[in-house]
Amino acid sequence: MKLEQNDRLFDEAKKYTPGGVHTSIRNVNPHLVFTKAEGAYVYDADDNRYLDYQAAFGPFILGHNHPYVNEKVKTALDRTDLYGFGTTDLEIELARKVCRHVPSADKVLFCNSGSEATYHAIRLARAVTSKKKIIKFQGCYHGWHDYVAVNMLSAWDKIGQKDPGSAGMLEEAIEHTLICTFNDLEDVAQQFQKYKGEIAALIIEPIPHNIGCILPEKGFLEGLRILCNENDSLLIFDEVITGFRHHIGGYQAIAGVTPDLTTLGKAMANGYPIAAIAGKDKYMSRFNTNPGGDVWFAGTYNGHAVGTAAAIATIEVMETLPVHDHIFRLGEKMRSGIRDIHERLGISSFVAGIGSVFTSYFMDFEAKNYTDLQHNDADFYVQYRLKLLEKGIFKVPMNLKRNHISFVHTDQDIEYTLAAIESVLIEMRK
Ligand SMILES: Cc1ncc(COP(=O)(O)O)c(C=O)c1O
Repeated sequence: MKLEQNDRLFDEAKKYTPGGVHTSIRNVNPHLVFTKAEGAYVYDADDNRYLDYQAAFGPFILGHNHPYVNEKVKTALDRTDLYGFGTTDLEIELARKVCRHVPSADKVLFCNSGSEATYHAIRLARAVTSKKKIIKFQGCYHGWHDYVAVNMLSAWDKIGQKDPGSAGMLEEAIEHTLICTFNDLEDVAQQFQKYKGEIAALIIEPIPHNIGCILPEKGFLEGLRILCNENDSLLIFDEVITGFRHHIGGYQAIAGVTPDLTTLGKAMANGYPIAAIAGKDKYMSRFNTNPGGDVWFAGTYNGHAVGTAAAIATIEVMETLPVHDHIFRLGEKMRSGIRDIHERLGISSFVAGIGSVFTSYFMDFEAKNYTDLQHNDADFYVQYRLKLLEKGIFKVPMNLKRNHISFVHTDQDIEYTLAAIESVLIEMRK
């Protein structure tokens, strides 16, 4: 793999930007400098071409530079942009679509990132309940702000303790964020009991994709709904990854569990920057976009034409074409193909996923939570992904990362990938 231009440009990047990248998790070996994206492929500065399953951590549900989405954005920009006042026709159209499709969305507000959305959701929950504490789950990621940047991809010896993800965080924020174990209702019930009357909200990725793909066990999300109801706490589904990717109405539409608040982002706009917080009218009307509302909501770029036009176009494609049928079918083909390969080669693994998402954990049982994942062979996992990268299959070579299939991937892409996986695993087994 030729990386000369990548290396040269990355050295240049480091002169101006700490570490040379603009998000910590992007600082991974090899340091690629991307120059082009098209359909299912991304290209680096040395013109290496990769079949992309990373999908920028999830937004690309239709594929890179999707012509219909791009055209809608360009057309929008030919006539409109941003006003800082009132509302726009694009915001109204998009809001109508989100409220029509997402079960919990009586009302919706737009912002620019998933982190903003989860911040707003938690502040709203605290205002509604006049309580301070929140529950999140070990391994789940909800963005970079102090309320939630704890116990994410914790070192194994940090499980069971408070594990702040950053220096400089407010002690009080860390203290008021309680950590539970995914798929363990008893644990959650105990926290509600221990901190009776103090828990404003429970925030959860209904499928914790930030650690690959751990599915909720039957009754788990339903149980959380009941516990939140019993304790007058708000249930927040963070559907920044699952929303639109697994169903146009979010995973809640599949699970049949309706949260009080939902956060959305990523696949909503096929790679363009926009996110949303949606929820029950009685809560959303507390935001001060509503006269008399007392929960601050603002943002210079909220509702920008670029994000709103892209989201409208992306949802239109989902409404009119069999996007989910296609990506679910290919997802199943990929997962069952990988399982067959592992079986043939005698590789101990648990191939996880749902719909368009897949990952292989190199361990010999089905993980139920983050703690279980310490049995994944991390070195093998990273080496495997690195070798796939060398074969032109783009999966970030980091431990516990998921892969995404998009509408633009084809049967041939899956077959090519399976062949590459088999040859890499044969080589690694040696
Ligand atoms: C589930 C979830 N919530 C929130 C966020 C934060 O979103 P953003 O990076 O857009 O701030 C992410 C980002 O990966 C996420 O996966």
